[in-house]
Amino acid sequence: MAMLKVDDINVYYGAIHALKGISVEVNQGEIVTLIGANGAGKSTTLRTISGLLKPKTGHIMFEGQNIAGTAAQNIVKLGISQVPEGRRVFAHMSVLENLDLGAYLRSDTKEIKADMDLVFGRFPRLAERRSQLAGTLSGGEQQMLAMGRALMSRPRILLLDEPSMGLAPLLVKEIFSIVKDINANGTTILLVEQNAHMALSIANKAYVLETGRVILSGDAKELAASEEIRKAYLGG
Ligand SMILES: Nc1ncnc2c1ncn2[C@@H]1O[C@H](COP(=O)(O)OP(=O)(O)O)[C@@H](O)[C@H]1O
Ligand SMILES: [Mg+2]
Repeated sequence: MAMLKVDDINVYYGAIHALKGISVEVNQGEIVTLIGANGAGKSTTLRTISGLLKPKTGHIMFEGQNIAGTAAQNIVKLGISQVPEGRRVFAHMSVLENLDLGAYLRSDTKEIKADMDLVFGRFPRLAERRSQLAGTLSGGEQQMLAMGRALMSRPRILLLDEPSMGLAPLLVKEIFSIVKDINANGTTILLVEQNAHMALSIANKAYVLETGRVILSGDAKELAASEEIRKAYLGG
């Protein structure tokens, strides 16, 4: 059984039909990526999984339970955590306060402290800047903080929305290597990216979205090698 099964969801913003029967499956332990052009429906898919939008039809099964329409904070409690597009850290709060907020649904103080130490171990730059205001961090550091904040809820699956957006190539590499590492430590990953090349290089499976539909899916390495994908998404 898939850990997460998005089954034929239709999602609207008012009259705009954003997702037209999207289905996506993620198995425990995998990195699965959603790629596709701007406006394809990638973020909408993640927002619907995390309970910020409700599908008009279709199901979202997480570990056997239909979570479509469940309140966002209950979805976090079930073990699904999202890092939104554009990071959205709290600029006027410190690194430490931002991380604390990631654990706001938890009360296991000792374990929260231990998880905070794990986040600082994973992101030494955040440890050095723990008292600094988040708004004064670089783009890459803000992405690390957003990921650290999401990890503070101890997710079983982490949803990442374009973590490489706007970052210099070296930092993009660093972020992708961190994503791989988080996955190797047991967290399942659903990764949305416009950087198809990098995403396909670390993913097990991929789905290509176009105007609210899945137009292709399969093994990430096979997709990366396909003519169609190379032409449309990998610059030839
Ligand atoms: N808040 C919104 N209100 C209305 N339409 C939206 C909103 N957010 C996204 N859309 C529309 O939904 C479609 C999918 O957008 P989105 O999921 O953001 O795509 P992607 O993340 O792949 O770039 C697009 O047509 C977009 O214009
Ligand atoms: Mg998006």
